[in-house]
Amino acid sequence: MKVFVTRRLPDTILAPVHQAGITTTLWTERRDLTQAELIERCLQHDALLSIGHNALTAAFFEAVPHLKVVSLLSVGYDHVDVPAATRAGIPVGNTPDVLSDATADTAFLLLMATARKAIYHHKRIARSHWGFYDPFEDLGTDLHGKTLGIFGLGKIGFEMARRCKAVYSMNILYHNRSSNARAERELGARKVSFDELLSLSDVVSVHTALTPETRGRFDKNVFDRMKSTAIFINTARGGIHNENDLTEALRNESIWGAGLDVTNPEPMRADNPLLDLPNVTVLPHIGSATLETRKAMASRAIENLLAGLRNEPLPHAVNPEVLTGRK
Ligand code: DGY
Repeated sequence: MKVFVTRRLPDTILAPVHQAGITTTLWTERRDLTQAELIERCLQHDALLSIGHNALTAAFFEAVPHLKVVSLLSVGYDHVDVPAATRAGIPVGNTPDVLSDATADTAFLLLMATARKAIYHHKRIARSHWGFYDPFEDLGTDLHGKTLGIFGLGKIGFEMARRCKAVYSMNILYHNRSSNARAERELGARKVSFDELLSLSDVVSVHTALTPETRGRFDKNVFDRMKSTAIFINTARGGIHNENDLTEALRNESIWGAGLDVTNPEPMRADNPLLDLPNVTVLPHIGSATLETRKAMASRAIENLLAGLRNEPLPHAVNPEVLTGRK
């Protein structure tokens, strides 16, 4: 059996694959493969370990129906045409749960850094602008006792809410299709309409998947309905906010600040005007980027890979309806 891997990975991570007698080919160039390159490689392999942002489209799955499994090193799968994978009979696996803490830490970091303009002040020192002390210049904002609105209260949203409650005694609101009994019981969270979430929250933090329903959801109209003192945090997917509208909302003071771990597009260009705004913190999609978390994600991805190659159900499948064992 042969597996194609779209990034370099340490030998220790791939050891369980090699110990199972499976060989791996690693893509070592520092760029994503084109679709044609990816198809060509997959035609010579039995499975794909997909890392990064290569879009796996319907055309891709139609070209490689022999693949026994596609294992993703991510919890998100918005870059994958899952119905097309299912039609091709290919099980797709992801890495849920193990990155909830690291991603919530990143959301919380963005919130604190934005509220106190940390990056802006750091850059001021580097430009020799740490000068005369003015007590009412460049102030941040307190978070104690304020209201956090979570858009999409799953595991990551819960962890962000738990941090905000524990550290700042924040009131927790959330907007979801379904109720979250645990968050209501343990954090006193209250489910509200989208309108209420926008008008009542001091911080709106996005933790939902990118879907046709959520794509571009945070646009001018939505920012206009938020408090002018509000902070917008997005650690989910950049496609959920409209970046031009966000920039305008910050410039017009329709909202106060923003913390982004995800941008649209990625990577963000160095001349993006958001990078010059004092109340903005931007990180390069590092939500899950700790050694411990990446190891845990890799271990889930390899469990999925090995299960697929053995024609067994994937422990973490995004299309469990695909019956393995046919190829
Ligand atoms: C995920 O796992 O979906 C993270 O966003 C990394 O891509």
